[in-house]
Amino acid sequence: MNERTLIITGGSRGIGKSIALLFASSGYSIAIIYAGNDEKARETVEECRAFSVKAEAYKCNVASSEKVKETVAAIRKEFTGISVLVNNAGITRDGIAAMMKDEDWNDVIDTNLRGSFLMIRNTIPLFLRNKGGRIINISSVSGLMGNPGQANYSASKAGLIGLTKSIARELAQKNITCNAIAPGFIRTDMTKNLENTPLISSIPLGRMGDAEDIARTALFLASSPYITGEVIRVDGGLAM
Ligand code: NAI
Repeated sequence: MNERTLIITGGSRGIGKSIALLFASSGYSIAIIYAGNDEKARETVEECRAFSVKAEAYKCNVASSEKVKETVAAIRKEFTGISVLVNNAGITRDGIAAMMKDEDWNDVIDTNLRGSFLMIRNTIPLFLRNKGGRIINISSVSGLMGNPGQANYSASKAGLIGLTKSIARELAQKNITCNAIAPGFIRTDMTKNLENTPLISSIPLGRMGDAEDIARTALFLASSPYITGEVIRVDGGLAM
């Protein structure tokens, strides 16, 4: 059978790890890009391999144009059938706008938005060779609704939605779709301080989501050739 490969950024923990494992369990080979934690990346690779699929991890800062280029080239040597890219790597540096430091603005935009663009730009030739592909960008309800204290993060996640729609239009003729998922509050390291706060009562379903809720949506989009330029909220009704 032809190899089907997922490239996932920020795949060593949280939502990204859950996506890697669900795709591995569905028979995809997995190329994980991670920022720094070698131990966690190794663990995730082993857990993917337990599904009898190929899996490798690559340390790479997605905000670095040079590193992304090198890393995608290394993945291309190792894997065939590159058919799905999930841009999941993301950071927060929250603070009120009047006090926000330049570096906190730049780091968030560079990782969340520029990083996704760099990954897409370098992966397009692989999709073209594969005669199609699925790009899935992990945005946020913060990019749809805005959020006080998150000017940088909201801007990066709203920017991802514009990026998603432009790429969807630009590459539709090549059988490459591009969609976004906008998670609400999902239980991960990023949100560990939110449990049991009043914020949770503003969610119509009354609870935080799980990383698997996002993973299932990503797998659905990966297997949906006629959906492109869409943003799917997975938020318990928070942003409706
Ligand atoms: P997390 O903090 O647990 O994981 C983020 C991942 O991104 C980590 O693996 C980290 O190593 C990686 N990463 C960060 N900077 C990187 C860089 N420069 N280069 C390469 N990798 C980098 O976060 P979580 O919660 O799993 O979030 C995943 C995505 O989902 C993020 O984009 C986040 O903004 C988004 N999201 C999460 C929500 C939540 O409630 N947890 C809600 C809405 C969106």
